[in-house]
Amino acid sequence: MPKPVLSVRNLTKKFGEFKAVNDLSMDIEKGKVTLLIGPNGSGKTTLLNCITGLLDFDEGEVYFHGENVTKAKTHELVEKGMVRTFQISSPFTRLTVLENLLVSYGDNSGESFVWSPWSKKWIGEERDAMEKAYRVLDLLEVTELAYDPAYTLSGGQLKLLEIGRALMTDARMILTDEPAGSVSVPLAEKIFTHITDLSRKEGLDFFLIEHRLDVASQFTDHVVAMDRGSVIAQGPPEEVFENLRVIESYLKVK
Ligand SMILES: Nc1ncnc2c1ncn2[C@@H]1O[C@H](COP(=O)(O)OP(=O)(O)OP(=O)(O)O)[C@@H](O)[C@H]1O
Ligand SMILES: [Mg+2]
Repeated sequence: MPKPVLSVRNLTKKFGEFKAVNDLSMDIEKGKVTLLIGPNGSGKTTLLNCITGLLDFDEGEVYFHGENVTKAKTHELVEKGMVRTFQISSPFTRLTVLENLLVSYGDNSGESFVWSPWSKKWIGEERDAMEKAYRVLDLLEVTELAYDPAYTLSGGQLKLLEIGRALMTDARMILTDEPAGSVSVPLAEKIFTHITDLSRKEGLDFFLIEHRLDVASQFTDHVVAMDRGSVIAQGPPEEVFENLRVIESYLKVK
């Protein structure tokens, strides 16, 4: 079996006496788009928060590319290439799409080149950042939006910008809570097409929480299903979506 890119071992997160994540273990393989599903309140966001250093947890360990990152802070994880999209500062609405990408370049250093023009490295970094930004625009097929202010973008275009900004850091794995939340079906499909392309062509790993199972299921390689803080099924989408426990967990809350 290939080495997992992300491993969670016996993770428990309590809020008071309530275990929002209960002794959860899972392995995410490299080169995959993995979907985390589960009914409302099953612990998906809490798990993502624990993995990405936003929440302390009570028990368990997290490994990223084999390295124990259990107590790592969010910015340390970003430096290692684990990027949660909203951890990058939210888009600057008055800046253009291109400027928003440039600001995210090297976001992990805490000091963007845009705001430190006195730096001696500035000229070299500016060229590198510009090349990277145009490559990201090209990858996401939004080059024509480069000079549009972010406030003019649609919800779906903002979602693409969010992914683009993650790509401007040196992300190896991108974790997102609802990458295609509240956008139309065609746009959701476009976003997922880009995600699968980035995974196949650029070797990026994705771990995504998604409620749009109709759309997302066509684009995913591996699904992890949660209920009441535990993993109840994992495997290829066609298997997990047919799993009775998974179906029941969704019916219960309706
Ligand atoms: N800060 C908190 N304090 C207390 N309880 C919390 C806190 N955050 C989450 N919970 C509880 O933990 C459980 C899991 O919540 P979580 O937000 O992780 O679920 P989720 O699977 O992401 O749900 P959704 O699909 O609605 O986003 C819920 O019962 C929730 O009420
Ligand atoms: Mg959630």
